Amino acid sequence: MRKLAKLYIGTNTKMYKTVADTVAFLTELGRLTADIDRQAFELFVIPSFTALESARKCVPPALVKIGAQNMHWEDEGQFTGEISPPMLKELGVEIVEIGHSERRHVFGESDADENKKVLAALKHGFTPLLCVGETLAQKELGISDESLSIQLKIGLSGVAREDARKLWVAYEPVWAIGVNGIPASAGYAAEKQWVIKRVLGDIFGDAGREIPVFYGGSVNPGNAAELIAQPYIDGLFIGRSAWNACAFNELIRKVVPVFAGK
Ligand code: PGA
Repeated sequence: MRKLAKLYIGTNTKMYKTVADTVAFLTELGRLTADIDRQAFELFVIPSFTALESARKCVPPALVKIGAQNMHWEDEGQFTGEISPPMLKELGVEIVEIGHSERRHVFGESDADENKKVLAALKHGFTPLLCVGETLAQKELGISDESLSIQLKIGLSGVAREDARKLWVAYEPVWAIGVNGIPASAGYAAEKQWVIKRVLGDIFGDAGREIPVFYGGSVNPGNAAELIAQPYIDGLFIGRSAWNACAFNELIRKVVPVFAGK
């Protein structure tokens, strides 16, 4: 079993928080978690575009890293409704989430699209957080591993070996996400995280196995500690259970000691 030096915990607030909601949430989250040693713990929040500027200003980056939920790959152009890398740079955003299940399955993004975004994020100095996960149909057909491998190999195509250390990956099985999601068992999640680590190793060699891989999909106060105790789960990427700062802080405090003893 391998363990990375740092535990990563983050949330994507999807389309749920206004600017005021985001600022209140982040201010409280920063205050509640300020005493947790950030040498071994990275906390990140990914709010809506409209809240990014205020989000980056209301809590120091040393406490909470801020990410965008999506990004276009071009620097500028005739792309109505899209947000470019320089626009996010201007706001001090550190992370760009790429290929969340809802982007892929509600908005029809392809692996090739995600790949252009990953390359653009690296070019502009962001941490790309590439999300991958099999659908229920793929799981039932027994092709989950193949699906994960394809998403990673296309999504990360053309990434230089020396850039591997700049990547984050989230494993989020599509069937486990959201209000109708069924949380993956810790054993199932660990097995698939190992598949992901193996594919990352195939792509990047040793550097690939050092890429932090997070689990997401119905993480909650009841399963978070068991998930983080698993080999190859380097962090948790949480939706609903993280959107209240007090509850999120409590969940974090359950997980931090388990990771430290891993
Ligand atoms: P959930 O969302 O924790 O609410 O299932 C996870 C996600 O979409 O990243």
